[in-house]
Amino acid sequence: MTGLFDSFQRPINYLRISVTDRCNLRCIYCMPEEGVKLMSHEDILTYEEIYAVTKASVGLGISRVRLTGGEPLVRLGLTDLVKMLSSIEGITDLSMTTNGILLAQHARSLREAGLKRVNVSLDTLRSERFRRITRCGELEDVLRGIRVAQEVGLNPVKINVVVMAAVNDDELVDFARRTVNEGWHVRFIEHMPVNGKDNAGTLVPVKEMKRRLSVLGNLEPWKMEAGNGPAKYFRLDGASGTIGFITPVTEHFCYGCNRLRLTADGKLRPCLLSEEEIDLRGALRAGASTEALQELIRKAISSKPERHHLDEGTAKKGRPFSQVGG
Ligand code: GTP
Ligand code: 5AD
Ligand code: SF4
Repeated sequence: MTGLFDSFQRPINYLRISVTDRCNLRCIYCMPEEGVKLMSHEDILTYEEIYAVTKASVGLGISRVRLTGGEPLVRLGLTDLVKMLSSIEGITDLSMTTNGILLAQHARSLREAGLKRVNVSLDTLRSERFRRITRCGELEDVLRGIRVAQEVGLNPVKINVVVMAAVNDDELVDFARRTVNEGWHVRFIEHMPVNGKDNAGTLVPVKEMKRRLSVLGNLEPWKMEAGNGPAKYFRLDGASGTIGFITPVTEHFCYGCNRLRLTADGKLRPCLLSEEEIDLRGALRAGASTEALQELIRKAISSKPERHHLDEGTAKKGRPFSQVGG
C-alpha cells in the first residue's frame, strides 16, 4: 500500500463518519432550541453502506476511523455497526465522539464490539449550567458515562470542552484540576464560528486559557499516544491525566490535516469548513463497485482545500456541525 496523499502532500489516513444528524441535546453553540431540519430515514446511509465506504477507504490507506453524529448513540443498533467496522482488517484506531448521555448503558457492549476509545463532549461541571448549555441534559448522566467508559477500558477517555467567554470560561481551572485529582484527559477547544453564528463575544484564545491556567503551575509538553487530531498536549506536575488545546481559530492546523468526513446522508466532505461535498450515496445505490467508490474517494481527497479561512471573514453558512460531526 502506498498510502493516500492530497494535492498538498498531506497524508490522509483518518475518516470521520457521522452516523446520524439527530441528537438528544440542543447545545447552544450547535443547534437552535427548536432543532434543525432533519434528514429523512431513506436519506441516511444504512450500516451496510457505511461498511462498504469504510472498507473501500481502508483499501486505499485509511487506518483510523471515528464515529460522530449528531449524537452517534441515538442511532439504533450502533454496536452492530461497531462490530462490522472492527472486523475490517487495517483499522488500527476505532473511536467515537459522543455527548456521553447514553454512554453508561452502551459502553460495555461497545467495548466488546471492538470500539477502542471515546471522546466525550462536556462543557461544564455544574448541573444547573449544564442544563442551560445543553438545554435539556443531566450532567450526572455524562459523569456516569465517563466513569463506566473508563472502567470498561475505552481509554483514554478524552473530555472535549468548548470554552466560551461568559458561559464556562470560569471553569478552566476546575477542569484542569480533574487531570490531577481524577486522571482525566481534558481538551480545551476554541469556539469556532460555524453555521452563520458568530464567535465574536465568546472566543477565548488558547494563549489566554494558558495564562489563566498558570495558577496551577507549569504545563509540561506531553506526547499523547492515542490521537489523530489537532490537539497539543501538556501535563501539570503530579497529574496522571493531560490537558490538550485545540486552536482552530487562533492557529489553524490545516497543514497537518489528515482527514475526510462522511456525512450521515452519504456525502464525502474534504474539509469541515468548506461546503464542497462529493456524493457517494448515489453511487452506492446504483450498485457501484469498490473500485468505483475508491475513485470517488480519491476525487474527494484531491479536492481538499489547503486551509480554512475563518480568519478572513465571518462564519460559513451551510450544514450545521450536527450534520458534519465537528
Ligand atoms: P483524537 O483522535 O482523539 O485526537 O480526536 P479528534 O480531536 O480528531 O476528534 P474530536 O471529535 O474529539 O474533535 C475535537 C475538536 O476538534 C472538535 O471541536 C472538532 O470540531 C475539532 N476538529 C476536529 N477535526 C477538525 C478539523 O478537521 N478542522 C477543524 N477546524 N477542527 C476540527
Ligand atoms: N466550535 C468548536 N467546537 C465545536 N464542537 C461543536 N461545535 C463547535 C464549535 N462551534 C465540538 C463539540 C464536540 C466536537 C465534535 O466538536 O463539542 O466535542
Ligand atoms: Fe482540515 Fe479543513 Fe479542518 Fe483545516 S479546516 S484542518 S483543512 S478539515
